[in-house]
Amino acid sequence: MKGPSSIRNRGSGGHRIMINEAFFQVLQKRRSVRSFKRKQVEEFKINTIVESCDLAPSAGGLQSYEIYQVKGNDKKNLLTRAAWDQMFISEAPLVLVFCANASRSVYKYGKQIGPLFTPRCHNCSSLCAARSSGLGTCKCMGRSI
Ligand SMILES: Cc1cc2nc3c(=O)[nH]c(=O)nc-3n(C[C@H](O)[C@H](O)[C@H](O)COP(=O)(O)O)c2cc1C
Repeated sequence: MKGPSSIRNRGSGGHRIMINEAFFQVLQKRRSVRSFKRKQVEEFKINTIVESCDLAPSAGGLQSYEIYQVKGNDKKNLLTRAAWDQMFISEAPLVLVFCANASRSVYKYGKQIGPLFTPRCHNCSSLCAARSSGLGTCKCMGRSI
């Protein structure tokens, strides 16, 4: 990669590496955000985020995960409870819930290994895609309630 759209840097081994500037800036600018505007997220931005997940690597190419869009207050409140009452979750205009679909991965990898695959790469892709669409995000963990 050459020209103004690349950042030149030195890797840990002293090798000169070049990274696409726009891509690197998305990584630099992504930070967890826990305070949100009361503004609905545009549909095209949600589609971009979902598309970024489709492009992420998945074990065996199975894409063994589901993404749920949650916008309603009742469901957001339940998710807030599931995430140890982190109130900012219910204040976000949109909550995306990433769930492993173990039935698909178990089908190919068996009961021992199949359930271990979680949509981590998809989750990271979605955070970066959201940032590149001008949105703030915070990854949160949850539990069954
Ligand atoms: C697996 C995982 C779980 C996380 N869970 C929470 C969470 O429950 N609540 C929260 O406020 N932040 C959560 N975070 C966000 C981290 O606190 C945050 O990424 C970290 O402090 C680094 O800050 P940055 O995202 O601004 O770079 C989580 C991050 C990861 C990777």
